[in-house]
Amino acid sequence: MECSWKVLVLLVFTSLGIQYTAIKSLRMTITSPCRSMAAENRCGHIKDNVTRALCEDLNGQQGRKHLLILASARSGSSFLGQLFNQNSDVFYLFEPLYHVQSMFTNANGLPTIDRRSLLGAYRDLLHNLYDCDFYLLENYIKPAPKDHVTSSFFRRGASKALCSPPVCNQLEELQENQCLKTCRKINLTLASTTCRSYKTMAIKTIRIPEINHMRTLVEDPRLNLKIIHLVRDPRAVLASRISTFVDQYRSYQIWNSSGRKPHNIDLLMIRNMCMDYSNSLETAFSRPPWLRGKYMLVRYEDLAKDPIKKANEIYNFVGLQWKDGLSSWIEENTNATVSPNSSKFATIRKSSETVEKWRLHLHFSIVQTVQDVCNTTLFQLGYQVVDSIQQLKNLSQSLLEPRVFLPFI
Ligand SMILES: *[C@@H]1O[C@H](CO)[C@@H](O)[C@H](O)[C@H]1NC(C)=O
Ligand SMILES: *[C@@H]1O[C@H](CO)[C@@H](O)[C@H](O)[C@H]1NC(C)=O
Ligand SMILES: *[C@@H]1O[C@H](CO)[C@@H](O)[C@H](O)[C@H]1NC(C)=O
Ligand SMILES: *[C@@H]1O[C@H](CO)[C@@H](O)[C@H](O)[C@H]1NC(C)=O
Ligand SMILES: *[C@@H]1O[C@H](CO)[C@@H](O)[C@H](O)[C@H]1NC(C)=O
Ligand SMILES: *[C@@H]1O[C@H](CO)[C@@H](O)[C@H](O)[C@H]1NC(C)=O
Ligand SMILES: *[C@@H]1O[C@H](CO)[C@@H](O)[C@H](O)[C@H]1NC(C)=O
Repeated sequence: MECSWKVLVLLVFTSLGIQYTAIKSLRMTITSPCRSMAAENRCGHIKDNVTRALCEDLNGQQGRKHLLILASARSGSSFLGQLFNQNSDVFYLFEPLYHVQSMFTNANGLPTIDRRSLLGAYRDLLHNLYDCDFYLLENYIKPAPKDHVTSSFFRRGASKALCSPPVCNQLEELQENQCLKTCRKINLTLASTTCRSYKTMAIKTIRIPEINHMRTLVEDPRLNLKIIHLVRDPRAVLASRISTFVDQYRSYQIWNSSGRKPHNIDLLMIRNMCMDYSNSLETAFSRPPWLRGKYMLVRYEDLAKDPIKKANEIYNFVGLQWKDGLSSWIEENTNATVSPNSSKFATIRKSSETVEKWRLHLHFSIVQTVQDVCNTTLFQLGYQVVDSIQQLKNLSQSLLEPRVFLPFI
């Protein structure tokens, strides 16, 4: 009974003031010496109700998985997210941090709080959501939900769990826009209870710049968090952003069509993207203990070239079971002809062919500039630089070096 005694003592301490370190040691006590005890036996002997509830809660959490797809804009994260959304065992959310960012952005698109506070708010919200608690999110939704009901849940339609029973009384499978029309308002209390019935929660975000910003959540023993870090050739990301975010990238379009770099061009977006990549990679490649078993690096290009193989590797890493419909979903969505109706945010089509098409759509002088700004990052990820226009445009010579980034286990 010695180990139950330890659990009890620790539980009393933690119930007095839930302290991160105390909970950490509690989790270690529960998971290491008491591992052999059956889950229901672990807490049954605890007399105090509050303490027992906390113990049961912690034990119950152990079966749950929390996944974070950490990516940057236009790097293929919608597709990667779909690999989880299509799995009926996964409760998937598409970019819930959008609400936080828009709350702290003024009319000119500038942040109204400093970066550190914003990142803190992101982490708090993620933690709440992983606990299936949607009430913190309500504080960020505009207009404020009434009676926990809202029609302004960002990209609700991109989440199958939020477009099917019980959250939406609709048995048919709905496309994103159909979901908004058919399901209308979302009851967040119901979403929250529904979420608890799923063993796995996956969240996609492009708003966390570096894996280092996630360290406290990765280390938090109340979560069982794994990060899938999606990266893509920065030159391809830029090409995609130029044609997607037309207003924001106006001066890049001028540069691209004229070949002359505008004097006032802002290279900060590229610089930041590559710095964020490199900082994350430096951390990951140094294999710190806190990332062990928690981190997998995925190059979008590898996913696009052989989606089924890569998806299998990702599923193995996160410990999810492959579903029957998944292979056919992947085939349909990576091997179709481009539909004239496909939106800019549609997932990849003919993915193996399109993956290096950016080389035909980016002026050589832009490519050179990105290569200068991002040379370290390109090197770290195995994206070859080009020295000439001929080399850039010759698609029979791939710029993708074969690399194997094994998950750190
Ligand atoms: C603890 O729970 C039991 C059974 O659920 C209940 O009978 C008892 O009144 C509870 N005690 C307190 C102090 O809430
Ligand atoms: C939302 O769902 C909860 C749980 O099912 C229910 O109790 C509540 O009445 C619902 N709220 C509204 C406004 O329908
Ligand atoms: C894509 O479609 C073509 C023609 O229908 C087929 O030959 C090929 O095997 C498919 N590839 C994949 C990865 O599904
Ligand atoms: C494209 O969308 C329009 C309007 O929604 C529709 O009438 C048309 O059939 C669609 N075309 C294809 C090829 O899906
Ligand atoms: C860059 O310009 C070329 C030539 O005008 C054009 O074909 C291409 O689509 C442009 N690229 C982007 C990303 O807008
Ligand atoms: C990147 O460029 C800098 C400055 O030109 C150079 O010192 C460095 O060696 C380059 N790094 C790589 C990985 O090519
Ligand atoms: C393109 O690259 C291939 C493979 O390196 C080479 O054999 C071919 O000559 C190149 N074509 C041109 C037009 O440079």
